[in-house]
Order: sequence, then structure tokens, then C-alpha cells
Amino acid sequence: MEGVIDAHTRDLLTRRPGFDWTVTEFVRVVDARLPPRVFRRHCPELDAGVTTPSGVPVALQLLGSDPGALATNAEQALRLGAIAVDLNFGCPAKLVNRHDGGASLLRDPRRVRAAVAAVHAAVGSEIPVTAKIRLGFSHRRLALDCARAAEDGGAAQLVVHARTRDEGYRPPAHWEWVGRIRRHLRIPVVANGDIWSLEDYWKARTLSGCRDVMLGRGALADPWLAPRIRHWLATGEQLAATPWQARAKVLADFAALQRTTLPERVVTSLIKQWLNHMRQRDAEAARRFQALKRINDLETLLAGLGCKEPEPECNDLALA
Ligand SMILES: Cc1cc2nc3c(=O)[nH]c(=O)nc-3n(C[C@H](O)[C@H](O)[C@H](O)COP(=O)(O)O)c2cc1C
Repeated sequence: MEGVIDAHTRDLLTRRPGFDWTVTEFVRVVDARLPPRVFRRHCPELDAGVTTPSGVPVALQLLGSDPGALATNAEQALRLGAIAVDLNFGCPAKLVNRHDGGASLLRDPRRVRAAVAAVHAAVGSEIPVTAKIRLGFSHRRLALDCARAAEDGGAAQLVVHARTRDEGYRPPAHWEWVGRIRRHLRIPVVANGDIWSLEDYWKARTLSGCRDVMLGRGALADPWLAPRIRHWLATGEQLAATPWQARAKVLADFAALQRTTLPERVVTSLIKQWLNHMRQRDAEAARRFQALKRINDLETLLAGLGCKEPEPECNDLALA
């Protein structure tokens, strides 16, 4: 997630078993071949086995509309060691769409196909090319055509964010539409959108019929969501709700990782950004956010979160 989930966040979110793979923030492709440093900035894991420190693979995501430029940059990514290239046809940002990127291609399935086919021709014999779409731009009438276009272009897997671009992030996510798409495709289809809890996970799976789901904001709101799902699948047992101390420990670890490269001021706002995601689903996080949102000093912020001396037992959650 652009501006939100970087390599440090991926590291923290994959420390406990839960995720099978992760995707970088998008690398914006316009025309020229981007220099290696751009790829390494988005995906520092390129120099570390292209996995998170705990061994979860990282796919590199490209966003653009020009098939030739996407192909050239996919080649560059491959040369730098990428193990999978994901193409973003879901971004709803006005600026991105105005420049003809992200979800704007969903208005014409032929363009989705051309982009995927060009990248597949460039790297598809070496590494998988995957794609991410929404259900459409303003309506869902082209949802299946866009999905088929990605498959025909050579995508090895398709993630479907179960909303149109115009629906933004507004609930509900239309998981049953992901099921319609899945039934017509041969490649694996992954359901995405509004999975915040184990119950949502199960509903999304049931309505879409997909074996796999992709988590976005839900994993930030509850860093134990993926482990919670994994644990339940493996044992049928439900983990207890994530206690505040465990969340605070994640934020403290995040601050320590970010401080190795970023100034205190930037780290302070990143911590507040993550806390803002947590507060959507947690009353204690909401209370702390309200009390701390104007604090601009990192030490005071961490103290206010109660994570000056993180509790070691926060690493594990008890069973419910
Ligand atoms: C701030 C923000 C940044 C995002 N950046 C990306 C991105 O770079 N690439 C991408 O494929 N999706 C991106 N997304 C979309 C999410 O990956 C996901 O598809 C969407 O939020 C719906 O899933 P969720 O309800 O689980 O969050 C972003 C979403 C948000 C809110």
C-alpha cells in the first residue's frame, strides 16, 4: 500500500506465520526505464533474497499504462532480481487516473490485456506476472472482460478488489462479484477488500469461493489478523482479541526500524498514520489517537502509547 506498507511494515507483519506472500507499493512507470535505485527503494528486499526477513516472498508492483514502458521496467526488475511482477489496475487516485494509470485502464479491457501481454512477453518465461483489478471504473459491466483480459494476457494470478474505482473504499465490498469472475477464469483468483476480522475472512471466502484472500487495511488495523486466520485454519481455535500492549509493541518496533533511516519528525507521523489505521477497529487505539494526535515529539508519542518498555510477552497471543 503506497505510502503505508514499506519493507519495515512487511517485516513486522510477517514475523508471525500468516502471510504467504506480500507486494510492494507500486513503482510508477511513465515512459523511461527507471534506475535501479527506484526499484531498490520500493523493494529493499531485492538485495536480501526478495523475501521479508522471515522468508515471505515479495512481489514487485508496477503501475503504468504504456505496455512498452511497463515491459522495459519489468525487464529491469527482473535484472535486479525480482521474483514476481504484479501489475496495478486498481489504483483509484485521481492524479494517477488523470495520468492514465491504475484503474483508468479498466475502462478498456484491451488495454489491460496489452499491458499484461507486454510484461508477460518480457519476463513471463522467467518469473510470474500477476495482476490486480477492481470490478470496473464507474460500473461493473466490464468486470469479467477485464479479468479475462488479464488472464489472456498471461497473468498467472488475479487479485480482485471487490469494488469499482468510483466506489473508492466505501463498504460494502462485493465479494460475490469476485466469485462470478473466479468461476470464469482458469488462473487463481484472490478476493480483496474489507476483510477486517476472522468473520469477514470467512464471509469473503464463502461468497467468492476463493481459496486465498489479500489483506490490506485490516492487517494494519490488527497486525494479528493474518496469524489469526492462519491459526484458525490450522486448528479451528480462535485467538483472543489483540491486546493494546501487543499493538503498542508493534508500533515501538516500527519506530525503531524507521529511525535507522528516517528523521524523528517523519517517524512520528508514520507512527500516527499506523495508529490511525488501528483506531478504526480498536477502542483503546482510538482513545490513544485522540489523546496523541497533536504530539510531534517521538519520545512523548511512544511514551503516550505506553510502549517505552515494551512487554516481552506481547510477542504471543493467548487463545480465546
Ligand atoms: C493508502 C492506500 C494505499 C494503497 N496502495 C496500494 C498500492 O500501492 N498497490 C495496490 O495494489 N493497492 C494499494 N491499495 C489498495 C489495497 O491494497 C487494497 O486493495 C484496498 O485497500 C482494499 O483492501 P482492504 O479493504 O483490505 O484494505 C492501497 C490502499 C490504500 C488505502
